[in-house]
Amino acid sequence: VETWHLVGREADFELELVEEVAVGGGTVAVHPTPAGFFATSAICTHEEARLYDGLLEGVEIQCPRHLARFDVRDGRPLCAPAEIPLRTYPCKVIDGEVWVWAPDQPSS
Ligand code: FES
Repeated sequence: VETWHLVGREADFELELVEEVAVGGGTVAVHPTPAGFFATSAICTHEEARLYDGLLEGVEIQCPRHLARFDVRDGRPLCAPAEIPLRTYPCKVIDGEVWVWAPDQPSS
């Protein structure tokens, strides 16, 4: 089942600080960027490092393990060693609340 999940208040996120949040029994990574909020898989497609320890710069997340970078808007990998895009999830802010459209168990 896919639905909108409330993942937090906009004011509680820090710009360019990626956070892993619980969604429907799984997790997603929420990226507060200068271009708005985006949500992706919480786990790198290369060797499954968790992205919340990564460096978010603009709309690019850098994996903490082998430093692959992804565009968080569409998940596409921007450099080696990653080749597979991150899954992305629709994300919206309404009245200061951040919502992510995702299935239950999104990272599993
Ligand atoms: S696990 Fe992310 S780049 Fe290797």
